[in-house]
Amino acid sequence: MFAGLRQQKQQANADGDGSYRHGNRHFIELQAIIKNYQTPAGDFPALKGIDFAVDKGEFVAVIGKSGSGKSTLINMITGIDRPTSGRVLIGDTDLADLREGALAPWRGKNIGIVFQFFQLLPTIRIIDNVMLPMDFCDTYRGRARKERALHLLDQVGIAEHAYKLPSEVSGGQQQRVAIARALANDPLLLVADEPTGNLDSKTANEIFDLFEVLIDQGTTMIMVTHDQDLAKRVSRTIVLADGRIIDEYLADAFPLLHEDLLLYAMEKLETLHYAPGEAILQEGDAPEHFYLITKGHVEVLVKDLRGNDVTAAILGPGQYFGEIELLRGGSNRATLIASPAGEVELAALDGDVFAELLGENGEVRDRFTQIVEERLDENQANRAGDA
Ligand SMILES: Nc1ncnc2c1ncn2[C@@H]1O[C@H](COP(=O)(O)OP(=O)(O)OP(=O)(O)O)[C@@H](O)[C@H]1O
Ligand SMILES: [Mg+2]
Repeated sequence: MFAGLRQQKQQANADGDGSYRHGNRHFIELQAIIKNYQTPAGDFPALKGIDFAVDKGEFVAVIGKSGSGKSTLINMITGIDRPTSGRVLIGDTDLADLREGALAPWRGKNIGIVFQFFQLLPTIRIIDNVMLPMDFCDTYRGRARKERALHLLDQVGIAEHAYKLPSEVSGGQQQRVAIARALANDPLLLVADEPTGNLDSKTANEIFDLFEVLIDQGTTMIMVTHDQDLAKRVSRTIVLADGRIIDEYLADAFPLLHEDLLLYAMEKLETLHYAPGEAILQEGDAPEHFYLITKGHVEVLVKDLRGNDVTAAILGPGQYFGEIELLRGGSNRATLIASPAGEVELAALDGDVFAELLGENGEVRDRFTQIVEERLDENQANRAGDA
């Protein structure tokens, strides 16, 4: 059935108990973030208006080509750099409220950071590297500090190397040390900027397995990666292009589409609103758009063999419709209405743009066609079942 085709997105606040101190309903909220770098040639806009929310326990991958603004975005979240305008809220903290002197200790306690090049101190032992954040933030005193470091090294699978120097272990092992160090103060959030960028693919997979274990244990994580295969394994991917986030639903709907085309499509998206129960598409009309649901639910009505409208499916955020007719030609095969239960917001793409997107990429077209065939079969089955 239609509804089974697309995974529904996690919506709204995972905390469930209302909002955080600054009214943010999500654990992390970036609001209208603009970042301009000053250069001799004038201001360079690296982030051009980012709105982005992450709930507790989410594992978010940030992808996008070199220069798209991924590291800049990460630096806004960690407070390593400040936005030109806009707000960064993490839990109960508005980063703008933290003066320079308060920011570093706050970061040390609340955010674990993993870098591409590990950035371990080369002259001190592995265990001392892991204890550094605890020294810095004065957490876990004396024996407990050392015990915790050993425990963390055990958790990342390299306790046996605790008393070696970083240079005495492999790259993958050094990254494990860096992860243990990032976890030292039990951070609310783990942030990683291309953590596997400097590792071979087998080691990268092992590091990624470790991240998955941490997510299972309740960690929230944002990871920049160039690795499309790894990005596929996370719960959510955002695509940055030219300082903007490409609409996530669009990116999910067209997973094989090149990001330049996604950005192009995003610029062409039109937002439409419908009142509860309002008609969106009429069976028999000529198809004009491809529609993505961004809020609310849409009911798909088809005629049973006696000519009565029956609800064939209810579609939710992230699901799409209209592509069957655009791909195969012919008139609308079903009537679609906004669910009587609430308002609906759609992102619509003109049929011509949709055709352009698919025209560029055989794989995308094949995949869409396959989905269409499956839907038609299921529809057929539904109607037969209702008769
Ligand atoms: N300190 C800076 N001063 C001026 N421009 C900068 C500065 N840092 C980054 N930029 C520019 O801002 C843009 C975004 O940079 P950023 O490092 O965020 O990209 P990225 O997506 O992380 O790229 P990569 O994949 O290569 O790491 C780039 O065009 C970059 O040249
Ligand atoms: Mg970068």
